[in-house]
Amino acid sequence: MAYNESINNNAKAGKQMLIGLHLGNGYGSQPGAWRMPGVDPKSYTSFDARVKQAQAAERGKFQFIFLPDGPGSILTDLETESPSFNLDVMLTLAAVARETKRIGLVATGSTTFNEPFNLARQFKALDVMSHGRAGWNAVTSSGDAVAANYGRSIPSSEERYGRAHEVIQLIQALWGSWGKDAWVHNQESGQFAKRDQIVPVNFKGKFVGSRGPLYIPPSEQGQPIIFHAGGSPNAHELAGRFANAVIGAAFTMEDARAQRNAFREAAERYGRNPDELKYIPGLMTTIAKDRRTALDRRIKLTGSLIPQRVAYLQQMLGIRLDLSRIDEPLSKEQLDAARPSPYDPRSPHALKIAKEGWSLRDIIAHGVIDYHPVIVGPGIEAADHMQAWFEAGAADGFWISPDINEDGIDSFVDEVVPILQKRGLFHQDYEGKTLRDHLGASDQYGVDLRVLTWSKDNIEK
Ligand SMILES: Cc1cc2nc3c(=O)[nH]c(=O)nc-3n(C[C@H](O)[C@H](O)[C@H](O)COP(=O)(O)O)c2cc1C
Repeated sequence: MAYNESINNNAKAGKQMLIGLHLGNGYGSQPGAWRMPGVDPKSYTSFDARVKQAQAAERGKFQFIFLPDGPGSILTDLETESPSFNLDVMLTLAAVARETKRIGLVATGSTTFNEPFNLARQFKALDVMSHGRAGWNAVTSSGDAVAANYGRSIPSSEERYGRAHEVIQLIQALWGSWGKDAWVHNQESGQFAKRDQIVPVNFKGKFVGSRGPLYIPPSEQGQPIIFHAGGSPNAHELAGRFANAVIGAAFTMEDARAQRNAFREAAERYGRNPDELKYIPGLMTTIAKDRRTALDRRIKLTGSLIPQRVAYLQQMLGIRLDLSRIDEPLSKEQLDAARPSPYDPRSPHALKIAKEGWSLRDIIAHGVIDYHPVIVGPGIEAADHMQAWFEAGAADGFWISPDINEDGIDSFVDEVVPILQKRGLFHQDYEGKTLRDHLGASDQYGVDLRVLTWSKDNIEK
């Protein structure tokens, strides 16, 4: 089904956007962040640093922080770069939970390499500890480097997603296995809990199983919220069935809109209201008082990577570039000959920046070869980007990756958030206390019967 503008257009529906903060290794999204002045080079092991960064996002009323996870593999060149992930996402979120009050706490937990019982227990304990602020980014793992940490190889997509469907349902069943009203803790009568309301799940699937029950009562939001991240049709199906939010990646508004529609259509196929599933693409930021200052900051951050990035830019534009003329704009001949590569969706934007007459160094500093769209400039440019995508039905919100966390989160909070608030696009304050409240997600405890695939064959006597 094709969605018409009135369904897609968030602004017309009077909605406001969601904002999350990417907290990876804690330094920031640029590889050079750990070396910048004012940054503690030992932040990698500092839980205090992570707490401070989450508090900065909470000051900006962000709905959540998001901690991706590998899990546990080293994907960077440690000679010069910090690892991309936290020491341990659950321990980090536990530390943050104790020092924040409202912001949602979302971490990746692999459905491929974890046992459901362990994940169910950790995320629900975090949910109770944080008074209903936990979210689980239920992903399938890809990459042999990750599999190697578990002594395994990467299963096929079909197998990874088959397992993921079972894992999520089983975990939700475990979350609901301690009945909602089972815990009476009545000192007078001596009844601790209603035993008959705490029941095993006895699930035996093709990929995973668990007897249960899980001895954890409901949190203030009942149970954690499900997030998902992935781009394939299998990912659409998984998120369409179970997720309340998708952590996305899209370089253009058109691609974001197509992805958002694919997820919404999948949700509808499973009998859900498409608005139950929020699509949240990424945005990287270098916020400064003007474009020049922001570009200089990026050059300082990523200077050593420029030769490597120029080599790649040649492929994106289909022309030869000369490193010895790094501080000159591209010539008319080069611009005339340039053809954006059909294999890299960032190429048309890179050519557009080149045509504006920036030097080769500045073209790179615009972030034309980064993982998400990049704002390098004053806060209003970020606000304009977010408004345009939001109003075009390309996003329900954004996860923000500042270049350097130390001051980049505060810049966003002070320079971008007030503009969005003034335009009525972002809330003034938290309306509720739980992550479920922040996302406007409806109540759920245990499995969602609308999307359940279990049959009686899956239940062991
Ligand atoms: C925006 C985004 C964020 C992701 N975050 C993680 C992550 O934190 N940990 C992880 O193991 N995989 C992560 N992934 C990878 C996906 O979980 C998945 O393995 C990959 O996209 C391949 O799945 P596919 O077959 O659905 O495309 C992420 C993917 C996207 C698009």
